[in-house]
Amino acid sequence: MSAAPCEWIHLTKERRVQQPISLVEASPDCRDAMADLFRTVCRQGDALPFTPDIPDAAFDAMWLSAGVQTYVALVDGSLAGMYKLNANLPGRAAHVGSATYLVRPDLQGQGIGTAMLRDSLARAAAQGYRSMQFNFVVSTNRAAVSLYERHGFRIVGTLPEAFLHARSGFVDAYVMSRPIAPAMQ
Ligand SMILES: CC(C)(COP(=O)(O)OP(=O)(O)OC[C@H]1O[C@@H](n2cnc3c(N)ncnc32)[C@H](O)[C@@H]1OP(=O)(O)O)[C@@H](O)C(=O)NCCC(=O)NCCS
Repeated sequence: MSAAPCEWIHLTKERRVQQPISLVEASPDCRDAMADLFRTVCRQGDALPFTPDIPDAAFDAMWLSAGVQTYVALVDGSLAGMYKLNANLPGRAAHVGSATYLVRPDLQGQGIGTAMLRDSLARAAAQGYRSMQFNFVVSTNRAAVSLYERHGFRIVGTLPEAFLHARSGFVDAYVMSRPIAPAMQ
C-alpha cells in the first residue's frame, strides 16, 4: 500500500453525495476503518459470505496482501467505501480480473459504488485484463446486481441456495461477468 495521487470525481445528480469523492490507493492508516466497514457489512448478513468474527489476519490476507490492489473512497477525508481489484485466478486464468466493493451503509445509494466500479473497470482495462468476473453476487442484493447489470455485466451462472441470508434463509448466488472492451485496453 503506497500513497497515490487523489482523483476527484464529482457526481452531479441531485441525490448523489454533494461532496467530491476521492478515490485513492489504500494506505496503512486506513486499515482499521476498512476492517470495521468489512465487519459491519458482514454483520448485516445479506451480501458477503464471511461472518463478522473474521480474524484480522484473514481480513489482511484478503484485502491487503501482495497481488491485491485496494482503493478507498474518501468523503470529507473519511472512509466512505473501499474496493479491491485482483486477478480472479493465477497463471493461465490471470487475464480475468475480479473485484469486491463495499460502501458504508449510511452512504449507500448515492453513487459511491458506481464511482468505484467505474474506477476499477478503468484500472482493469489499463492493466490488460480481458474480462471482469464476480464469483459470488447474492441474488437478493438488488443494489449490487442492478449496478453490475447497468455496467454491462451479465449473470453467467447461478449457484443454487449457495448463500445463507440473515433474513431470507438460503438464496441463490450469481457468477457475473463482462468483457473489458478492446477500446478500453
Ligand atoms: C453494492 C454497493 C457496493 C453499491 O454501492 P452504492 O454506492 O450503494 O451504489 P450506487 O449508489 O452507486 O447505486 C448504483 C445503482 O444501484 C441502484 N441501487 C442502489 N441501491 C439499490 C437498492 N437497494 N435496490 C435497487 N437498486 C439500488 C442505484 O439506484 C444506482 O442506480 P443508477 O446508477 O441507475 O442510479 C453497496 O450498496 C454496498 O456496499 N452494499 C453492501 C456490500 C455489497 O453488497 N457489496 C457487493 C458484493 S457483490
